[in-house]
Amino acid sequence: DRSIKIAPSILSADFANFGQEIRAIEDQGADWVHVDVMDGHFVPNLTFGPPAVKAFRPHVKTFMDVHLMISPIDQYIEAYAEAGADMITAHIEAGPHIHRTVQAIRVQGVKAGVALNPGTRAEEVEYLLDSIDMVLVMTVNPGFGGQKFIQNGVEKVRKVREMIGDRPVHIQVDGGVDTNTAPLVAAAGADSLVAGSAVFKGGSVDKPDVYGANIKAI
Ligand code: DX5
Ligand code: ZN
Repeated sequence: DRSIKIAPSILSADFANFGQEIRAIEDQGADWVHVDVMDGHFVPNLTFGPPAVKAFRPHVKTFMDVHLMISPIDQYIEAYAEAGADMITAHIEAGPHIHRTVQAIRVQGVKAGVALNPGTRAEEVEYLLDSIDMVLVMTVNPGFGGQKFIQNGVEKVRKVREMIGDRPVHIQVDGGVDTNTAPLVAAAGADSLVAGSAVFKGGSVDKPDVYGANIKAI
């Protein structure tokens, strides 16, 4: 289903060649570039700060989709917006004031997403749907690439799609997306799919065409 956008996650890219990897996935058909920010507190892993995201920015021609797996969030929003994020997605579980967080993202002129961990109910976004641009349904527990898809995420996508109604809110699915699971969530109503290991597996900076084949297969 080619109307669905593919957002490769650079968490699975070659950490010694981000510029080259970003250019490669975009040349090979990526619609967005998904940047997984992890703080070693909200999730048990540590990745990119604002300076790194700022360094990625000149290499991104499509859309830099920044997934903040951090808590607290609010004091970093301006820095990631300054770094050039086109969208900032915050986890509903990361703090008590998600509505204020979404406002703080929007006031930076950046699109606002809200992410739901696998254990969080779809209903949690009910009072945010008029203030956000995207709901990110996690289908793995955040922190790592290459994990197994959590099946009940499919039903959650359907539920979120139903709740959104005719609002202009995008649904993104993130975690364990591959050729087997992509059709399930696409049919349930997803608009974009994040894929890390499924895009980067078998490829390298010297073999970027593998990325293209992997993207097409999804
Ligand atoms: C996990 C990240 C995901 C991850 C996806 O915490 O938010 O974006 O990189 O990797 P795969 O597609 O390998 O599950
Ligand atoms: Zn992510």
